Amino acid sequence: MSKDSLSIRHNRTGKTVEYPLLQGTLGKETVDIRAIHKDLDCFTYDPGFTATASCKSHITFIDGDKGVLLYRGYPIEQLAEHCNYLEVAYLLMNGELPNATQLQDFSLEVAHRSMVHESLRNFFDGFSYDAHPMAMLVGVVGSLSAFYHSELNMKDPEHRRVCAVRMIAKMPTIAAASYRHSVGKPFVYPRLDLGYCENFLNMMFSRSSPNYIDPNYSVDPIEKKALNLLLILHADHEQNASTSTVRLTGSTGANPYACIAAGIAALWGPAHGGANEAVLRMLKQIGSVDRIPEFIARAKDKDDPFRLMGFGHRVYKNFDPRATIIRQTCYEVLENSNRQDPLFELALALEEYALKDEYFIERKLYPNVDFYSGVIYRALNIPEEMFTVMFAIARTSGWLAHWLEMMADPSTPIGRPRQLYLGPEQRNIIPIDAR
Ligand code: ACO
Repeated sequence: MSKDSLSIRHNRTGKTVEYPLLQGTLGKETVDIRAIHKDLDCFTYDPGFTATASCKSHITFIDGDKGVLLYRGYPIEQLAEHCNYLEVAYLLMNGELPNATQLQDFSLEVAHRSMVHESLRNFFDGFSYDAHPMAMLVGVVGSLSAFYHSELNMKDPEHRRVCAVRMIAKMPTIAAASYRHSVGKPFVYPRLDLGYCENFLNMMFSRSSPNYIDPNYSVDPIEKKALNLLLILHADHEQNASTSTVRLTGSTGANPYACIAAGIAALWGPAHGGANEAVLRMLKQIGSVDRIPEFIARAKDKDDPFRLMGFGHRVYKNFDPRATIIRQTCYEVLENSNRQDPLFELALALEEYALKDEYFIERKLYPNVDFYSGVIYRALNIPEEMFTVMFAIARTSGWLAHWLEMMADPSTPIGRPRQLYLGPEQRNIIPIDAR
């Protein structure tokens, strides 16, 4: 047996097959078991893909035990300190950080592509005022495929690039429009003179309308900085549920706008991007520090569906580096807004209590990125229903980086898992009057 391989012996037939162990730049060895079906006439069983690498990728690396997150090799802490979101989006998509001219050109292109087709605005009228903004986002982003279908040649790298930039550019416009629709306010058009984060906050909160620019609204620099940070921290996270959904959908050759809509749908669930909204609901439900033990007991009780939202992660089993950065920003933003948030105090106390509890220690359950992100969004006056939308804006660059990477690789097969079938064996229908 060669050193860099793994042998599997089929006990019934006695047949032994060797599978190569692949070594990436960083991370664990990975067994290439693609031939197992042909060799041993069996499949592998791994629900939830807990041990399965679904693709090769050059974009993001996570070491869950050490709490390391790298985008294209750069530690998240350095990117958070030195970059703006569009720089990071450029890095994710292109593999290298832009120089000053490249960044300027990219930012200008994003600004120029931030408008949406006027007809797209009418789509919002079809939604009830109380529709969840994520429902509107899924629908409206998916409908972009109807606007940019005929001109799209997916085999052309430039077409794919334009499509990716277009989506990064339009996501804040559509997200802000979803919010404005839900509160009955006129849509605010994107402005070419504002940066990515400022533009979004202006479209959310200024008193502008299509025909009027509010002269009194200006974006608070600390708020802009906090938003930029949150977008960077959420930009990518390798093969998470929504990114895998985008890849799986894209592997069929589906329209990219529809792929991103599929990613948004996957992000919505409370076990993924919906956790930030769920954390705030949970903190309100707990209400006060003295009720923490009661809720910790419920989180530990297997007969109770209650889980500590914002705690635990499939990959991080020591700490989530994004949570550490965000906790510090909570202090800054709250200090800047001159207010104390009782929910932040409660979150700190809950974290402290849980981290001393044997149940959470044993299972390596720590606060994840979303445990504190909601506190910052609250301080920025972003309503709870918009929290997952904010995550979607950020993750769009990651989704597209993965989509671009996959589409550029001609060997990408359609994603098509197998199953362990446990249903009835083949049987014959009994006529209805004899059943
Ligand atoms: N509260 C209480 N118990 C928990 C929690 C939690 N938040 N998370 C995990 N556990 C327990 C499980 O019950 C299980 O216990 P057991 O071994 O006694 O059966 C053990 O810890 C392992 O949990 P799994 O569910 O197997 O871990 P998995 O990796 O599949 O799930 C997940 C990770 C989905 C994030 C989970 O921790 C969770 O539901 N957390 C709360 C939701 C959340 O915050 N999601 C956001 C994730 S980050 C993101 O998407 C940006």
